Amino acid sequence: MATEQAPSGLERELERMLEIEKFEPPAGFRAEALWSDPAIYEEAGSDPEGWWLARAKELLDWETEPAQSLNDSNPPFYKWFEDGRLNASYNCLDRHVEAGRGDRIAYHWRGEEGERRDITYAELLDQTQRFANALKGLGVEKGDVVGIYLPMIPEVAVAMLACARIGAVHNVVFGGFSAESVRERMEFSEAKALVTVDGARRKGKTAPIKETVDEHLGDLDSLATIVVVRATGIECPMQDGRDVFFDEACAAADPTCPAEPMEAEHPLFILYTSGSTAKPKGILHTTGGYLTGATTTHRYVFDLKPEQDVYWCAADVGWVTGHSYIVYGPLANGATSVMWEGAPDYPHQGIWWELIEDYRATILYAAPTAIRTFIKWGEQIPAKYDLSSLRLLGSVGEPINPKAWLWYHKVIGGERCPVVDTWWQTETGAIMITPLPGITETKPGSATRPFPGISGEVVSEREGEPVSEGQGLLVLERPWPSMLRTLYKEDDRFIETYFQKFGDGRYLAGDAARRDSDGYFWVIGRIDDVVNVSGHRLSTAEVESAIVAHENVAEAAVIGQSDEQTGQAICAFVTLAGSTEPSEALQEEIRAEVAERIGKFARPKRIVWADDLPKTRSGKIMRRLLRDIAEGRALGDVTTLKDPAVMAELEGKIAAEEADGGG
Ligand code: WTA
Repeated sequence: MATEQAPSGLERELERMLEIEKFEPPAGFRAEALWSDPAIYEEAGSDPEGWWLARAKELLDWETEPAQSLNDSNPPFYKWFEDGRLNASYNCLDRHVEAGRGDRIAYHWRGEEGERRDITYAELLDQTQRFANALKGLGVEKGDVVGIYLPMIPEVAVAMLACARIGAVHNVVFGGFSAESVRERMEFSEAKALVTVDGARRKGKTAPIKETVDEHLGDLDSLATIVVVRATGIECPMQDGRDVFFDEACAAADPTCPAEPMEAEHPLFILYTSGSTAKPKGILHTTGGYLTGATTTHRYVFDLKPEQDVYWCAADVGWVTGHSYIVYGPLANGATSVMWEGAPDYPHQGIWWELIEDYRATILYAAPTAIRTFIKWGEQIPAKYDLSSLRLLGSVGEPINPKAWLWYHKVIGGERCPVVDTWWQTETGAIMITPLPGITETKPGSATRPFPGISGEVVSEREGEPVSEGQGLLVLERPWPSMLRTLYKEDDRFIETYFQKFGDGRYLAGDAARRDSDGYFWVIGRIDDVVNVSGHRLSTAEVESAIVAHENVAEAAVIGQSDEQTGQAICAFVTLAGSTEPSEALQEEIRAEVAERIGKFARPKRIVWADDLPKTRSGKIMRRLLRDIAEGRALGDVTTLKDPAVMAELEGKIAAEEADGGG
């Protein structure tokens, strides 16, 4: 937008700041920080198992305290705190209420149209107990899987905690996924019940949800119950004997439901995430280790002081960031959080900053893609609000480019707030590589170093030797409490995906990274066929299979292309069937097909019509070459191609598209 204008004062200043190599923790911050002594790294590193056991006892209430830390007798199926017993919902709710903190606000919820709901810990406990009883009444038992498909409303936390209270395993599906994706995830996990809504609001519009759920999941045998939260009040079909309204079920339920102590290794949740194939992976997390990881990192990475802070993680509960840093971490720590229902630009582009000003928020945790969007909208928007309450900023989900880091630091943080760039994954359960805000000197764009008690390395693809210069594969070298325990019902795939390459002792993250002369980690991005669009994880195979579902498509190859705003964007090379002619309308139909099967956020930004796709002699599509031409790079080795002419033709297409002014 601003390309033809002279650089603004801010831009010039950011350019200057790019020269600064390291940012010290602000002195005032360090003086007050929970952790300010770097000795913590040695303390944890010299005995990680003992150190994690101590954190588990420091931050959680156990019905039976564990004596055991790691059990590695059956690698890579590691277990933690196995002889301990605890309940996650007790740790998130009861213990705060019992300690007299029931009146503390758990969530300042704000609806899209400005509705306010301040929910205290006591209220959250009451609703959770009622809903837990309602679930029991509906036949849900310990170990059963319960699907949750809800927008950003407080009931999502209630539903998750109610499951945890009775030992049911929740399986949350991000509200942006289509009903078809929900079906697949419910089918794979054999969910017994699903909690959803009548309709969902987005930027002033209401979409029917329950109706679509019925269309796609109506015939699923395992699904005995659908609970419907009346979020919008729109009409929705209810099936006798299967469907109940959330409010009615809660009102009819007994208000007391004691939290049932669980074995530490009792499954807490499954969360499906994209892998290299079209079939999503069901990441399984268990109770004690997961809660220890989420609570410890939430406390010390964000330097959380529960009595003073107002914390806001602007992710969606449907992703792991929401699980660990909107629900479990913050509630276990007794934090007060902001929960925002809507988009960053509705009702206006300053809504985030308005919320921060209103609630005097002190900590903000957001994705780089959001920050880049705010940069595009201009610094004059946040400048209208009082952001002086902020004292710490976090980033998650994708690499943050140094310019965005500096803008965040300067424009939002007023140069007083440490920025924590946190690297982790659905699989790791909790933050793994991150600065400690009162200790670490940060470098824009680097997640710095592993959290105490975690050990990471960058190794060469072939020998698995540490790489001192240039890029390699990111691995975690020791088990950690919040690691995934397996892929739900797919133990072999679990081993193959994460431990086949380098053995049971090294977890393969699937990311490329490099380390600099200070040993800092710079995460580059995925090495597998996973694309990261606005911090949303998608597999290229998943998108391809949605595209080829269109009747006129013969073949498709999907790649992630770098995109200034969303980090990566989906680019699809599509070969049409028979005599079908390419057209704009067909592009829209293909996008609609992807929206229907996966969700709107997976729609290809760019579609390139291809008469043929580059393949090896054995018929494998060479995505590397497609990435090269999409990015306008010189082509690498094409000698293994079955038909090199295919590439020349595609290159010609891309050149014509560019001459046309883009897609
Ligand atoms: C990427 C999200 C660079 C990475 C918590 C990882 C990051 C994938 C960062 C996991 C970061 C996450 N810097 N890349 N700070 N954080 N990633 O499972 O590629 O949705 O493998 O978990 O996001 O995505 P997931």
